Amino acid sequence: MFWLGSTRVEGDAVLAPMDGYSDLPFRSVCRALGSAMSYTAFMRAADVLQRPEHVRPRWQFLAWEQPVVFQIYGSTPRTLLEAALRLQEHGPAAIDINMGCPDGRIVRRGAGAGLLATPVKVARIFRLLTRHLEVPVTAKIRLGLDETCRNYRLIARIVEENGAALLAVHGRTRAQGYRGQADWEAIAAVVQQVRIPVLGNGDVRTPADIARRMRETGVAGVMIGRAAIRNPWIFAHLSREQVPRAEVWRVLQHHLNLSLDFYGPQWGLILFRKFAAQYLAPYFQSRQQRRALLTAATPQAFLHQAEAIVLE
Ligand SMILES: Cc1cc2nc3c(=O)[nH]c(=O)nc-3n(C[C@H](O)[C@H](O)[C@H](O)COP(=O)(O)O)c2cc1C
Repeated sequence: MFWLGSTRVEGDAVLAPMDGYSDLPFRSVCRALGSAMSYTAFMRAADVLQRPEHVRPRWQFLAWEQPVVFQIYGSTPRTLLEAALRLQEHGPAAIDINMGCPDGRIVRRGAGAGLLATPVKVARIFRLLTRHLEVPVTAKIRLGLDETCRNYRLIARIVEENGAALLAVHGRTRAQGYRGQADWEAIAAVVQQVRIPVLGNGDVRTPADIARRMRETGVAGVMIGRAAIRNPWIFAHLSREQVPRAEVWRVLQHHLNLSLDFYGPQWGLILFRKFAAQYLAPYFQSRQQRRALLTAATPQAFLHQAEAIVLE
């Protein structure tokens, strides 16, 4: 349990924001399995203002999914504020500022992890947003730009002093990308330093990792990204091996239906394939079988093959 502003959040693990994955269907699946709240994938602040129809699918959510945190990225305090004000009308539980994206095109423009290089601007952004928004403002950071600039303690202090309600820390630098190991001692140092809830992120792979990281660092909760793609049941504290085939089949069908409803019959199936590959990874008997499934042209053909694979 932890607090997001005045909202009590039940649970100890949260699905991470992931571009290309944390859409309404997958967030719903994870939330139903026990993810404590939802984060949308990042949205470019300028897109929210200039071509909202392009980003709308990213912020749509189901009412029972709340608390839902909308994540935005950008480098200009005014643009971030205006985008956040616009998004606030759609009822998020909080607005999150992305300060972790390592993509060169984003970092070079001073957004994502690029913001870590401009602490004064970070202060301005949080002062501005917390003053003008009604919902809590949160931050997701990395440890710094690279080994020579691990300024996460400074950034943590700045966001807290300027009103942030919660801080998620991915225990890597921008330069590390997704390589190496997340530094949970650094995350523990942030927990010691700030009073707002901290979500620790990086390499949580098993249910045992959730308990261990919480015990060892005192984080309010953990945020799980890649491991949740492979095993959304991690939010129910189950390892993938513990999940019965019938349950995999139930969730696969439900997820596909959500995807078809949300994206329509054609895109719904196409966008579901990458999830299907994960649900069925332990059961494929050959590459041909996998390829045939993932190129099935209709949902009916897809389900027919998937059922044979899961239930043998
Ligand atoms: C495919 C992918 C997309 C991601 N997109 C976002 C994003 O939109 N916003 C964000 O803050 N982090 C994003 N991340 C980073 C994750 O939220 C998380 O910090 C990172 O994957 C480390 O956690 P993990 O070890 O549990 O995967 C993304 C990561 C992946 C793998």
